Amino acid sequence: MCDKKKFYITTPIYYPSAKLHIGNTYTTVAADALARFKRLAGYDVFFLTGTDEHGQKIQRLAEEKGVAPKEYVDEIVAGIRELWDLMNIKYDKFIRTTDKYHVKAVQDIFKKLYDQGDIYKSSYEGLYCTPCESFWTETQLVDGKCPDCGRPVEKAKEEAYFFKMSKYADRLIEHIENNPDFIQPESRKNEMVNNFLKPGLQDLCVSRTSFNWGIPVEFDKEHVVYVWIDALSNYITALGYGSENLDLYNKYWPADVHLIGKDILRFHTIYWPIMLMALDIELPKQVFGHGWLLVDGGKMSKSKGNVVDPVILADHFGVDAIRYYLLREIPFGADGLFTNETFIKKINADLANDLGNLVSRTVAMVEKYFNGVIQAPTAKEDIDNEFIELALNTPKLVEKSIDELKIPEALSHIWNLISRSNKYIDETTPWILAKDESKQERLGTVLYNLVEALRFTSVLVSSFLPDTAEKINAQINVDLTTWDSLASFDGTQAGSKVKKGEVIFPRIDVEAKIAEFEALKEAQEKENKKPVMEPLKEEITIDDFDKIDLRVVKVLECEAVPKAKKLLKLKVELGEETRQVISGIAQHYKPEELVGKNVVLVANLKPVKLRGELSQGMILAVSNDDDSKLFTVDVPAELLTGSQVR
Ligand code: ME8
Ligand code: MG
Repeated sequence: MCDKKKFYITTPIYYPSAKLHIGNTYTTVAADALARFKRLAGYDVFFLTGTDEHGQKIQRLAEEKGVAPKEYVDEIVAGIRELWDLMNIKYDKFIRTTDKYHVKAVQDIFKKLYDQGDIYKSSYEGLYCTPCESFWTETQLVDGKCPDCGRPVEKAKEEAYFFKMSKYADRLIEHIENNPDFIQPESRKNEMVNNFLKPGLQDLCVSRTSFNWGIPVEFDKEHVVYVWIDALSNYITALGYGSENLDLYNKYWPADVHLIGKDILRFHTIYWPIMLMALDIELPKQVFGHGWLLVDGGKMSKSKGNVVDPVILADHFGVDAIRYYLLREIPFGADGLFTNETFIKKINADLANDLGNLVSRTVAMVEKYFNGVIQAPTAKEDIDNEFIELALNTPKLVEKSIDELKIPEALSHIWNLISRSNKYIDETTPWILAKDESKQERLGTVLYNLVEALRFTSVLVSSFLPDTAEKINAQINVDLTTWDSLASFDGTQAGSKVKKGEVIFPRIDVEAKIAEFEALKEAQEKENKKPVMEPLKEEITIDDFDKIDLRVVKVLECEAVPKAKKLLKLKVELGEETRQVISGIAQHYKPEELVGKNVVLVANLKPVKLRGELSQGMILAVSNDDDSKLFTVDVPAELLTGSQVR
C-alpha cells in the first residue's frame, strides 16, 4: 500500500460532433499539464477524459451522413483519441458514454433518483408547432405564430420526467458560500449564485421522447435520459460507481478539479452538485471554468487565414509549441487570442531565442572548452549566489502557481530562470575566461552552473512541454529528473559528457510562414468549395411538371418584413393582376435591388401566411447548399409579365 496523496482531475467529455480545432484542445492540454505536474510532485494521479456521445445533435448528424449513430461516433472518437495522442495527452482513462458499464450505471442512477422521489413523471406543456416539431413559450411567438415558419401553434403536452432541483438549492448555496474554492475563478461563482441559484431553480426536464439516441430509461423505454444527466455521471461511472468494483471510486472520489470551459459552468456547478447531493455523494472539491481561445476577436472560425487545425499546426511547429502557446497565452480563467502571427512570434521569442539558445550555447561551450566533459564546480564566486538562489526558489514558485491553477504564471516563473541563465552567461563571459589559462576552473564552474540550471529547467518544463524536456535531457545528458532533486543545486554529475543535438526550436521566418499558411488556406477553401450536388429527385412525367404554373412577374415594390431577418415583402405584376409575395431572400438582396426586375413566380402555389403576411406564390431563386450565395432566376425585361415559363 502506498499512502501518496491522490489527485483526481477531469476534463469535460467531448462531443464527437465535428473536427476539433485548436481551441478545443485547450481544456485537455491544461488538464494534462496539471496531471503531469502532480505526478511529478509525487501525487497518485487519476486523469480522466472521454467523449459525450448521445443526444439529438449527434443523431441528426448521423442521419445526415446516412449512417447509424454508433458508427458515426466510432469514427470521430477514433480521431479524437489520435489527436490526444498527438498532443501528448497522458490520460489514465478514456470514457465513452456509449460504454456498457456507463449506460448501466446511468440507468441505475436514474432509477434510484426516481425511487426516492427526486425524479417524478409529469408532462411538459407548451405551444407546439407540429411541422417544425418544436415547443415554444408564449413570449417566443411572433404574432401568436411559430417564430420559425409563421404557422399556427397548438397547446401540446409531452410526457417527461423531471428532477426536483429546487429541493437542494438552499443546501447548494450554503455549500458554495462555505467553500470559497468550490467554483473558480471567483467572478464565475457570483454569476452562478446571483443569476441562477438565488432567483430560484425550476425543476429540470431529464428525459426526452422525441428522439431515441440516448440511454433508455430502464423502467419506461419510450424515454431516453437527458444528455447532461448522462454526461455528468461520467465523472463517477468512470471510477466504477454503480459497478461491483468500487476500488477506483473509493480511492479517487471526490474529484480534486473538474476543469471545464466557462460555457458549461452552470451544468457543473448547479445540476451536477445537486445530482450528487441527491445520490448522497460527496461534492467535487473544485470546478474551474477557464476562458476561451478566440480567433479574430470572436469564436474559432476559418477566416483570415489563421490555421486552427491542431494537426497542421503540430506538423509545422511541433506539439510543444502549441502546448506552450495555449498554456502561456490564455490567462487562466480569462479569454486569450490566437493568430498565426502572435503564435509564431511567441515561438521565436520564448522558445527559439530564450530557451533554444540557452541550450545550444551552453552545450556548445562545454564541447568547445572541455571536449564535452562537465567539470566539477570548484571555483564558486559571489556572483553565482543570486543565480543559484533563484534556481532553488523557482520550484516553490511554480508549485504555488500550479496549486492555484495559474498555469501562465507558473510558466513565467520558469522563463524567469531561463532569462536569468542567459543573463548569467553575459555576466560571466565564458569566452573571455576561456582565453585565460588561470581561469579554467572558474570557466568549468560557470558551465557547471549553466548545465545544472538547464537540468532545473528541464524538470520544471517537463509537465508542460514533455518532448522538450526530453530533448534538453538528451543534450545535457543528466538523468536526475525527480522533483525532489530540485531541492539542491548539485544534481548534475561532474565528469559526464554533453551531447550536442538538433536545435530544439528553430527560428521561424514570420512573413514567409504566414504567406505559406495563407496559400494553404486558399487551397483548402477551394477544396471545400467543390460543389457537392444534391441527389436528383424521383422521376416525374410531363403531366406532373405541367401542374406547376411558372410565370414571369415584374417586381413593383419591395420592403423588409419587420422582425423577420430573412423575409422580404414584394408587390409583383402578373399580367393585369398585382400580387403580394413573401420571399426568404432578405439576406441576399436589398429591397431596392429587386424593384424593376423580371423574375419567375410559382404562380399556382396555394397562398400561405408568413409572419402574418399573405404570400401568393413563390419567387424562384438558386443558391449554394450552404446558402452563402443566392440569386433570383432573372428573366429579360422585354418579356411580358404573365408569360409562361416552360
Ligand atoms: O461541452 N477555447 O463538449 P464540447 C477554449 N460534451 N475551450 C474551448 C473552445 C475554445 N475556443 N471551444 C470549446 C461539451 N472549448 C460537453 C461536455 S461534460 C460532462 C460534457 C471547450 O465538445 C469547452 O469549453 O462542446 C469544453 O470545456 C470542451 O472544449 C468540450 O466542449
Ligand atoms: Mg460546446
